[in-house]
Amino acid sequence: MPSTPSTDPSLEARTRPGDPCIVVIFGASGDLTHRKLIPSLHNLAIQGYLPKNFAVLGVSRSEITDADFRKQLTPDAKELGDDASRDAWKSLSQRIFYLSGDAQKPETFPRLKERLAALDKEQGTPGNYMFYLSVAPQLFATTVHGLGEHGLLREEGSRWRRIVIEKPFGHDLPSAIALNRDLRDVMNEKQVYRIDHYLGKETVQNLLVFRFGNSIFEPIWNRHYIDHVQITVAEELGVEGRGGYYDTAGAMRDMTPNHMAQLMSLVGMEPPISFSADAVRDEQVKLLKSVQGFSPENVIHHAIRGQYDAGEMGDKRTPAYRDEEKVPKDSNTDTFVAIKFNIDNWRWADVPFYVRTGKRLPSRGTQITIQFRRPPFMLFQKTPVDRLATNRLTIHIQPREGISLRFGAKIPGPVLRVGAVNMDFEYQDYFGAKPSTGYETLLYDCMIGDPTLFQRADMVEAGWKMVQPILDVWKALPPRDFPNYRAGTWGPQDADALLTREGRHWEKME
Ligand code: BG6
Repeated sequence: MPSTPSTDPSLEARTRPGDPCIVVIFGASGDLTHRKLIPSLHNLAIQGYLPKNFAVLGVSRSEITDADFRKQLTPDAKELGDDASRDAWKSLSQRIFYLSGDAQKPETFPRLKERLAALDKEQGTPGNYMFYLSVAPQLFATTVHGLGEHGLLREEGSRWRRIVIEKPFGHDLPSAIALNRDLRDVMNEKQVYRIDHYLGKETVQNLLVFRFGNSIFEPIWNRHYIDHVQITVAEELGVEGRGGYYDTAGAMRDMTPNHMAQLMSLVGMEPPISFSADAVRDEQVKLLKSVQGFSPENVIHHAIRGQYDAGEMGDKRTPAYRDEEKVPKDSNTDTFVAIKFNIDNWRWADVPFYVRTGKRLPSRGTQITIQFRRPPFMLFQKTPVDRLATNRLTIHIQPREGISLRFGAKIPGPVLRVGAVNMDFEYQDYFGAKPSTGYETLLYDCMIGDPTLFQRADMVEAGWKMVQPILDVWKALPPRDFPNYRAGTWGPQDADALLTREGRHWEKME
């Protein structure tokens, strides 16, 4: 077992277990721990990616013991599955511990330090700590400062200390800049791992391989061949008891500067000079910085907001957003956005990127559509063919995972007719389905010190910068027509008009 940390994301680094370490979860009694973090560590254990010298320490205010905590996290027998899974759980669960403490109180940190030192001795871990902040964003800064003041973020020799933070990274551009500054006060940027869980999805990671691991797509991936790009992230769910948080965010803040920006940057970026973390992220940030700024007038025409009313989802009646738990009756928070972004660079000039996301839409699905230009019609003049469909590449991110390419084919028969057919690739057909929460790669990458799939400070700020003019105009001009779409429909009519007035339309979700 290598005991030195790796900053090298090369294949060699990826074929070994993570560095020996302790994962400290702040906010351990929260949902994320038992829904995602522990199941991901379990999956990593099954696949042999967890180091032998390893421990998890949950920190939270509840007064419970190690045994209680383990019990809370134990999957039921049915979920545990086969022998390999049961053995992996047995070994992992013995290495899960708990410390009752409030990270907002300074006295918690000396206790934490002592407990970590004791665990290092017991488990043979060399003082490498991954601090996972699964806490409300307003608690980030105090937690990190507490760790810093007690020397828990100090790296020495090969010993590493890393912080993992979940979004939201700020509420707008100024607060994101302030949060980044707070983090920089106590640690280096390279110790900060900002998670955007979209980057944990295999299909999102595959965008890089699809574009740059093949030679046939890149030559046509530009304004000469592509008419426009569409990105849809549709959710059937409403706010599911998260009304308190969601009402302060809305679809724009919750999804656009982060998940949507990640998808846009992977679709639009230039080829990185290598697969190193900074080379990839430099190109992503460059793309985000090339997004054309919005004038107030552009915001009105190119950024559509919506809020759902009561409606039907299948055969179930669902309430209006304003009737959801913890949402004010006069809330003006957006639950849907559709935006036309223009990108000011040589590759994408005049190729709009239309993005939309919303809650309570008719179906769940994330899909990217690359719409190619129409072929010239010359050959088919004076034939019965009256129109040609455009080529379209659809990248299905979730729940369907695959890629389809639409092209024209001759419909068999004596009369010349052209039909649109699809060539489909489905992940499952080739690679089968592995149990995954979407956090495995991210946790593993943090253990080997590969930040490629994590957001750098400048990326976070570029994401906010892209949407800040929209937030400003929307704040100054509250919506007058909310709620403006029924649950179970594809958002407000203006979202359709955003494309139809330019002779385009949103592609159906497949
Ligand atoms: C989260 C948002 O970041 O992403 C949620 O806060 C949203 O509101 C979720 O539902 C969507 O993630 P996924 O992986 O289900 O598409």
